[in-house]
Order: sequence, then C-alpha cells, then structure tokens
Amino acid sequence: PEWSSAAVPQMGFNNWNSTHCRDEFNEDMIRSVADKMVSTGLRDAGYRHINLDDCWADWQRDKSGNLQPNLKRFPHGIKALADYVHSKGFAFGLYSSAGTNTCEPHQENRGFPGGLGHEKQDAAFFASVGADYLKYDNCNNEKKPAKERYAAMGEALRATGRPIFYSLCEWGENKAWLWGADPKVGASSWRTTGDISDKYDSMLKIFKQNVVLDAYAGPGHWNDPDMLEVGNGGMTDVEYRSHFSLWSIMAAPLLIGTDLRKISPSALEILLNKEVIAVDQDPLGKQGKQVRDAKGIHVIVKPMKDGSQAVAVFNEGDAAQDVTVSAQELGLKAGKYRMRDLWKHADTQGDGSIKLKLEPHATVMYRISAM
Ligand code: GLA
Repeated sequence: PEWSSAAVPQMGFNNWNSTHCRDEFNEDMIRSVADKMVSTGLRDAGYRHINLDDCWADWQRDKSGNLQPNLKRFPHGIKALADYVHSKGFAFGLYSSAGTNTCEPHQENRGFPGGLGHEKQDAAFFASVGADYLKYDNCNNEKKPAKERYAAMGEALRATGRPIFYSLCEWGENKAWLWGADPKVGASSWRTTGDISDKYDSMLKIFKQNVVLDAYAGPGHWNDPDMLEVGNGGMTDVEYRSHFSLWSIMAAPLLIGTDLRKISPSALEILLNKEVIAVDQDPLGKQGKQVRDAKGIHVIVKPMKDGSQAVAVFNEGDAAQDVTVSAQELGLKAGKYRMRDLWKHADTQGDGSIKLKLEPHATVMYRISAM
C-alpha cells in the first residue's frame, strides 16, 4: 500500500491528545490501540496511520549520535513496535522537532533531541526502523528560518528512498500553507493553528482559523487544524459531531486522539460515520468553502468528485436558531435534488434549499445530488 500517499487527507491515530507524555504512552498502549482499530472496524474505515508523538525517544542520543527509544516505554524497541503495527495493516509514524530539542520539557528542562543539524542521520534512523510518517514540530528552533529547517528534513527524508509522509507542525506561525508544498520542502500537510484542547471553545477557535484557508489545500497538500478530540470527554456528543463534521468538510487530517482502549460506543459511532468520512476523503480533494459566516451560523460547501455538494451548517452559538439556506447560496442551479442527511443516514428530496432548527453547537451535514 502507498502509506505515504497524500492523495486524500491522512487518517489514523496519534497518542498525544489522550496521553501527552504520561507513562501510559507505551508499547502496550500502542499495540492494544492497533488491535482495537482492527476489531472495531476503524482500520477498514480508512484509519491507516498509527503515529507516536513526543516523548517516544530517550533524552540522549546513543554513542553514534542516533536517536533511540525510551526503553521504559518501549522495552522491545521501536523497530519491533513498527513491525507489529505494520503486521496489523497500518503505517507507522514518528515525531521530532525542527529544533535542537522537541517541545516537551524533560531532562534539564529541555525537550528530547531534535532534528536540527541532524537531519540526514535522523531521517536515516526513521527509515531504518520502518517509519512511514514524520510529524515535525517547531520547538527550540533557534529562530532559524522555518522554510530552510523544514526543507532540510524534507530533503533528508526523500534521500532515504523510503516514502515517508511529511507532516509539518509549525502552528501556522510561518504560514506554512504558502511554502509547505514547495518541492524543496515536500510536505503533505501543515498545521495551521496552535494546539487543540478538549474544549468546545478551543475547537471553535481552530475551526475559524482553518476554514478561511481553503485556497491552499488540495491533493498532496492539506491544511491541518490539529488532531481530533472526539472521545476525550471534554465536549458533548453534539459538539464532537460538529468537530468531526467540520474537520471532514475542511478535508482535514482525521487523526484520532483518544485512547481507543476506553472509547465509548457513542464516540466510536462518530469516528465510524462512513458517509462523513467519505466527505473528508473525497478524491476531488477540495477543502470546503465557507459561504456564510453570520450571526453565529456557518455554512460550508465542498464540491465532490461525483458532482454532488457536501454541505455543513453549524450553529456556533449557545441558543437554538431557525436557519434557512437557499439553493442559490449553495451554488445550486434551479432543479430537483436528493438531499442525504449524513448523520441521520436518510434521504429527502427538494430544491436544494435547507430549512431547519439548529440546536446550540450543532452541525447538520448533507450531500446534495441533482436528480
Ligand atoms: C507541540 C505540538 C503538539 C504536540 C506537542 C508535543 O505542542 O503542536 O501537537 O506534538 O508539541 O510536545
């Protein structure tokens, strides 16, 4: 399989949102998560990447200057874990920073060893353990120009000969959407915002920052508004459905950020909504365009490869609202349309207009096809 292909946004799992650097981030967790992704059908729904975040490494390089895993967390080493993950049908991902150290303060109040100045050696290490994905952060960057730092690792990754999905994490500070797709850098996605947290306000703020960047996303290069919080407990199911809907209509990476060993049935149902996933993964690769942002109502339209339009209508406010969206506002010609509700999994017919009562923080999603 083409693990590194970014023809559609990446889908998978990353431990950060659920564990940060706590001890529970370890070999047992990652193996169990892989197993759970198979048994729940998440893998077959498209979640193909299993990525480790910060704190996988030992705080010191080895005698030859190579990165090495934290053996308390990963007693069998990183290669063995990558092999396990691969054997279950997933791609395996690692993390580093385009700086002297990673982000999480550790020994001597510094992060773990970073890739700045070690690009070739570290890229060779990533390839040698079988990594298919690198998330490359921005901490401790010595204020060196971002594009140069990210290009150096991009070049080193390509030089390994192993296809490695390159995911930039400079939080939008240097507007990576303007240069990340430059072949010198070769990134397949870039973060557009600071870190998400498991709160509605955080999700909302990040959505607003990312939704206006639709012009910069497309096959092979995606805006990344950070990983999913679905299942972590800080939002209601209504809010998590909005989070998942909005990320999908924005063609965002869908990286599960909850500890799947403990996921609730309702959260799992959200992550497994195949009709919403199909919007995110549509091969036309358009990020949805916001056609209305007024009075707390957001309307986003995403053209789909089959000629249909995916539509999300989101009520950010704390009161229910009656909402009307005309067919014209959605860019539809006069005609008869099939309207598929992607959360109710039910069809209606109409002229393409939408009229409904939207609960606080709720999103409805339709796929609208000409009849
Ligand atoms: C930064 C990134 C996060 C996470 C942490 C790890 O804050 O933006 O996504 O990787 O570092 O320390």
